[in-house]
Amino acid sequence: GVPSLIRVTPSQLKYNNGRKEKPAWSSYQGKVYNITPYLPFHPGGEGELRRAAGKDGTKLFMEVHPWVNWENMLGECVVGVMVSEEQAQS
Ligand code: HEM
Repeated sequence: GVPSLIRVTPSQLKYNNGRKEKPAWSSYQGKVYNITPYLPFHPGGEGELRRAAGKDGTKLFMEVHPWVNWENMLGECVVGVMVSEEQAQS
């Protein structure tokens, strides 16, 4: 069905860094993905993908493989959209 997207602040993104049992979230072009289930399948290795955990991974991603269609691959893993701390309060 249609996923319901939550609004994610920079501090929430930073918190979900994949360490200490927390999920690994990463944002790409303003959308937030739960990359946890994809970690073991990443062709570049789990460690490389973890470098983007809890962060905006757009720059790293584009440096390595701009041709990869992440919308297609991670569509099922969308969590929400990035908002500023101020926007989250309104
Ligand atoms: C390779 C997907 C994030 C580093 C690949 C490949 C795919 C992929 C499909 C194979 C590409 C090909 O052979 O043409 C993804 C997805 C990501 C992601 C869906 C987002 C969730 C990242 C990040 C980094 C990274 C953030 C770096 C910090 C690499 C490297 C390879 C690779 C180094 C090359 C492996 C090799 O051929 O030796 N990734 N990737 N990836 N990825 Fe990612």
